[in-house]
Amino acid sequence: MSLITIVSGPEDRPLFFLRGAASTYALGVHASGLLCHLHWGGAVEPDASLAGRLETGGMPFGPEFLGTPPFGGRASPDLLRMEYPTANTGDFREPAVDVLHADGTRGLRLLYVAHRVLAGKPASPGLPATYVESADEAETLEIDLRDAREAGPGEPVSGIEVTLSYTVFAGRDVVVRAARVGNRGDRAVTLLRAASVSVDFSHRGFDLLTLPGAWARERWVERAPLRSGLHESASRRGASGHQAHPFFALLEPTADEVRGEVHGFSLVYSGNHRGGAEVTQMHQTRVFLGINPDGFAWRLEPGESFRTPEVVLAYSAEGLGGLSAQYHRLYRERLVRGAWRDRERPVLINNWEATYFDFDADKLAAIARRAGELGVELFVLDDGWFGRRNDDTTSLGDWIVDRKKLPGGLGDLGRRIEAEGLRFGLWFEPEMVSVESDLYRAHPDWCLHVPGRGRTEGRQQLVLDFSRPEVVEGVYAQVAAILREAPVGYVKWDMNRHLTEVASAALPPDRQGEVFHRHVLGVYAFAERLAGEFPDLLLEGCSGGGGRYDPGMLHYTPQFWCSDNTDAIARLRIQHGTSIVYPPCTMGAHVSAVPNHQVHRSTPMRTRGHVALAGQFGFELDLTKLDAPDLAEAGDLVAQAKATRHLLRHGDLHRLRDPHAGNLAAWMLVSPGRDEAVVTVVLALAEPNWRLPALRLRGLDPAARYRCVHGPAGEWRGDALLQIGLPLDGLTRDFQSLRWHLKRV
Ligand code: DGJ
Repeated sequence: MSLITIVSGPEDRPLFFLRGAASTYALGVHASGLLCHLHWGGAVEPDASLAGRLETGGMPFGPEFLGTPPFGGRASPDLLRMEYPTANTGDFREPAVDVLHADGTRGLRLLYVAHRVLAGKPASPGLPATYVESADEAETLEIDLRDAREAGPGEPVSGIEVTLSYTVFAGRDVVVRAARVGNRGDRAVTLLRAASVSVDFSHRGFDLLTLPGAWARERWVERAPLRSGLHESASRRGASGHQAHPFFALLEPTADEVRGEVHGFSLVYSGNHRGGAEVTQMHQTRVFLGINPDGFAWRLEPGESFRTPEVVLAYSAEGLGGLSAQYHRLYRERLVRGAWRDRERPVLINNWEATYFDFDADKLAAIARRAGELGVELFVLDDGWFGRRNDDTTSLGDWIVDRKKLPGGLGDLGRRIEAEGLRFGLWFEPEMVSVESDLYRAHPDWCLHVPGRGRTEGRQQLVLDFSRPEVVEGVYAQVAAILREAPVGYVKWDMNRHLTEVASAALPPDRQGEVFHRHVLGVYAFAERLAGEFPDLLLEGCSGGGGRYDPGMLHYTPQFWCSDNTDAIARLRIQHGTSIVYPPCTMGAHVSAVPNHQVHRSTPMRTRGHVALAGQFGFELDLTKLDAPDLAEAGDLVAQAKATRHLLRHGDLHRLRDPHAGNLAAWMLVSPGRDEAVVTVVLALAEPNWRLPALRLRGLDPAARYRCVHGPAGEWRGDALLQIGLPLDGLTRDFQSLRWHLKRV
């Protein structure tokens, strides 16, 4: 069945219906020639009579204009539900696109010109994106719009043309949107904004769910009713950041984890973003998301075009859990790419919290030996192995091994690690430079800076100007030289500060507004090269923990260090919020020492392990310092990680208890065939005389029997687990956890 149906309305105006598994996204050409939104929600059959629903009645204190023949209808731009709204032509709401023309004026009026349907999804070179592996997985609708006058046969005004693209994936409730703005005029213009998406819902009354945070407190869930006016979530940091996440959802107020309509918006981009909602005078809700216009001004010469990053729109009538399922499946199957997409990932040990900068080869080898004895598969050498980096004041940019710490070099260390039965991994921070470095002394203009102005440091480092291909090339040459020589199977790619004095020595004055975006494109170009030359390398993204944990980076790095906060209790909220969009197989999660280095809390080894088993499991402590009981527990955790990691890859996540809402967190993963599941429960704080009710499970086969093969003993029927639940009587102490590995009998 075709995924996109086009029906003709009056005057042959097209109506487009994009059909998901249980949803429809519909839009059409209004009588004025403007492209308008019709519906995004539950499934609707294509029907020409719906053309009338493109109209929006009302008596606004606003302008009107007469459309362009052949359509020629009258329109009130401030009322219509626009697919890609413009500025300065009668729509006073949040515009998606705005242009500064050569004559100093602003504005556009975009009228429909043509459309086409393509099998599959065209590639978007240079930008991360969802993809298909065969043309029958998706269909793409492209619609061309042109800046035109309100009278005359589509007479162009500025030569600006916009192509909107919509990809609908078979069997999913996902539409991927992006826009391309081209200049067919004969004079250069400046693109002042180009959102990836704008959607006008016909009504108000939504809740807005966002994932704000801070360093070591990423992606907490916030939900609040939308009132009149503008509500935004944005980053001006040059990176997606810990603070505002490039994702949000609109929920009907009664929607919860399993019930109700939810619309999700997820930007596949790692730089400045801005998104949000505007509740209008006519009680409509406009939603927008894309590159933040603040700090963005892109010069378009005649013949040039600009492509926005894409936004993944997902819909579910089955609550937030249903929405997450849409994102999890798409992101693990058709966003993450490369050899590691479908592989089970190694259990790792990272030396950062074990040693910080204070290590030598013997100390590392001793940790690796103990790790090997436990069955750990990968040893990651974190920050401090290069230059003269004994603290964070120096050496970023000098990717040359420190022979004082590692006299035999990385090759020798790598072989020692391999002799203990582990693969070897290495930390880099490619986008950064320390003032105290040979690279900075040689190329002081290679960092972002404004001539004559001070260079603001963050963590005593500056940001390299990745908008310059020669800078990307220079760093790449150093990193690649290491990877070609040492036996490195994994790279942790870190990024520890945000951008200031954003300007490039290589661009002319009228292109300085492009630096933010060009820098991000340079980061992606670096990732592309790395993935191209080292296709077997497992990349783990990191930015002071989870500061750049976004779909853009996940395209290249199949897993991401979720947070620098490794405390088991603090992680409950961080991981819960992260799981709203991102599948567990992308989430790096480690067991660290107690008292915890970020919040100084002491929690049992088992609880730390159970929380880390929610993601890609590893350790981040000195295993040689563990006592016998903790060592035995650690060995059991490694065995559990290996026994259940296939569920991380393919299982469906069900969030059973929200740690934001109380003292209890609980979640489960269920295999696609419902033959197997793991259930985890963590009690943050115990209360006296407070009996925990049984925990009702989800996703199991009611007719099956399940036996616990690891964890509290028991055998239950599926229906009993679903309707009555697992008994939680054993949970009585602060920071205590339980984990059941269930198998169909
Ligand atoms: C920040 C990361 O999030 C940590 O895990 C660690 O790699 C440090 N940087 C090293 O400087």
